[in-house]
This record gives sequence, structure tokens and C-alpha cells, in this order.
Amino acid sequence: MLDGKPVLFSGMQATSTLQLGNYLGALKNWVSLSEKYECFYSVVDLHSITIRHEPAVLRNCSRDVLMLYIAAGLDPVRNCIFYQSHVPAHSELAWILNCFTYLGELNRMTQFKDKSAKHETNLNTGLFTYPVLQAADILLYQADYVPVGKDQKQHIELCRDIAQRFNAIYGDVFTIPEAHLGKSGAKVLSLQDPKKKMSKSDENINSCVFLLDDRDTIIRKFKKAVTDSLAEVKYDPENQPGVSNLLDIYAIFKETSAKEAAAEFNGKGYGELKAAVGETVADCLKPLQERYDELKADKAYIDSIIKANAEKASSVAGKTLQKVQKKMGLPFKVR
Ligand code: TRP
Repeated sequence: MLDGKPVLFSGMQATSTLQLGNYLGALKNWVSLSEKYECFYSVVDLHSITIRHEPAVLRNCSRDVLMLYIAAGLDPVRNCIFYQSHVPAHSELAWILNCFTYLGELNRMTQFKDKSAKHETNLNTGLFTYPVLQAADILLYQADYVPVGKDQKQHIELCRDIAQRFNAIYGDVFTIPEAHLGKSGAKVLSLQDPKKKMSKSDENINSCVFLLDDRDTIIRKFKKAVTDSLAEVKYDPENQPGVSNLLDIYAIFKETSAKEAAAEFNGKGYGELKAAVGETVADCLKPLQERYDELKADKAYIDSIIKANAEKASSVAGKTLQKVQKKMGLPFKVR
């Protein structure tokens, strides 16, 4: 609890600019949570360096992601929006938690297995201890809830295990966090291969809609979306994954259910469905895109947000880190 509200922490990587899946699966949900909780939303730039990157791309994407958080509706005064790398306590606590995490635990992480298969030539230890840094992110803010997708559940479980292990030795230092899974249906699939998740790293650029794609591009990508040969608009994710994905996307933006969306297109062709979804997405993203353009033009404002929130995050994180250091017997600082 902080200021009488439960604490919530989440973060996103800044390896490229955000796409529809990040928005519908996470960001949109974060906005709705910011009323009830004391929220910390980080741009986890230290996680991004576990994979080889271009310095300029990392710097630009990190700023873009931070601005998109705000453009999507997160008030940067009520929510603490900050770069992970601006709060050194993340790295410091990660080191300490490394000493409370077993090799066997990290070896079991499915995301590590997937990523190491993809990055065989750069199997660095940062990639291996990635979940420990993630645990530090969460525990520093004594977070009660962590809104994440299903793919992150294993990391949250590990975070709980590490925290419980630490608490069992040193007393009640960390709040044990819980995953806060978003509503079902918020998983956005690739427009070109609807058996896979929408991903910015997909080679086929038509498979993924970026939040900053212009209107024509968005509509074009939806027009090219892969459907099926059943020629009937029905919500049936099992047998009609492409059509169902389009209905899911449409339904979230229109704030209705996928079934109702299907009824709306009953008797209509796939072409009409694709055009309607493309236009809806373009219309609904327009305010976000306009806000982003304004923010991008106002460097001084964004800089002031970055500075103020890094200070706020550092103050909360610093308290937890100090408590940890003290409990463990690390020497007191001489003031
Ligand atoms: N690993 C998360 C992802 O890929 C990102 C992340 C880093 C995160 N630290 C976090 C998410 C802390 C929630 C809480 O999505």
C-alpha cells in the first residue's frame, strides 16, 4: 500500500515502437487501472540490452514508448512513468536477488528457452538473469499487483518465490506480488498467421499494426489480413482464427463483445469486415497519435516528466533497497 492504495507495477520493453498487441493487451488496461491503484509504469530499457541493439534505436524507442504511455491516456502526474535505467536501485537489487535465485529455477524459464533458441550467438548471462531484474523491478515498489499477459506468469511466480525466500530469512521485507491478468480476448494475433501472437519482430510487415502507423497503412494491413475459405463471419477462434481475431480487435475498440460484433457482420463478406475493422482501428488510434505528435514536439515537458518521475521512483525504490541492505548486514553508509 502507498498513500492508502494498493501498488501496481508493470513495464514494457523498448526494443521497437509499440504495436496493437501492446496496446490492447496491456496499455489500454493500464489506463483503466490507474484510478484504483498507485501505479508505477516503467520503460524497462535495461531489459532491452539483453539482446544486441543499436544505441540510437534504443534511445529513440525508449522515449517513444514513454510518450506512448502518456499518449494512450496515462496521466504522468498520477502515474509514475519512468525509465528503469534512471533508478539505479533496479540494478543493485537485481544483483542481491541473484544471490537468492537458483540456476535450476532460471533454467526452467520458458521465455529464456525461447529466446536462447533465437539468439544462439549471444547467449549472455543478462538474458539468463532477466527474470531476476524483473523481480527487482516489482519488489522495489512493494507492488501488490503486476498486470501482465499470460506469457509473463512464470516470471511473476519466480518473483514470488524469490521474495518469499528472502522474507523467510530476513523477515517481512517484501510484499508478495500477484499477477493481474487482463481480460481474456485481449490477446492480439498476427494478421498474416493468426495462430501466432502479433509481434513486431515478424518478418512480414503486414502481420503487425504499429500504434504510429498512418491511417492508410492501418487500413491496408487489415485489408491484407489472412482469413479462411469458409466465407461466413462467425466468432469461432478454433476454426476461424483470422476472422475471430478481427472480431476481437473490433470488439475491444467498440467496447462490445466479439459475439455481438459477429452478429453485426452477419451475412456480410470478409472484405467488408476487414475494411470496417481497419477504419475503426485507425479512427480509435487517431487521438492517441495526435497526442503523441504534441508530446513529441514538447521536449521540455517530456523532459520534466522524466526527471520528476525518476525522482519519485528513486525515492520509493531507495527505501526498499536500504531496508534490504540493512537486513542483510551490508555496512551502513557514512553520512
Ligand atoms: N518481461 C516483461 C515483458 O516482456 C517486461 C517487464 C520487465 C515487466 N519488468 C517487468 C513486466 C516488471 C511486469 C513487471 O513483457
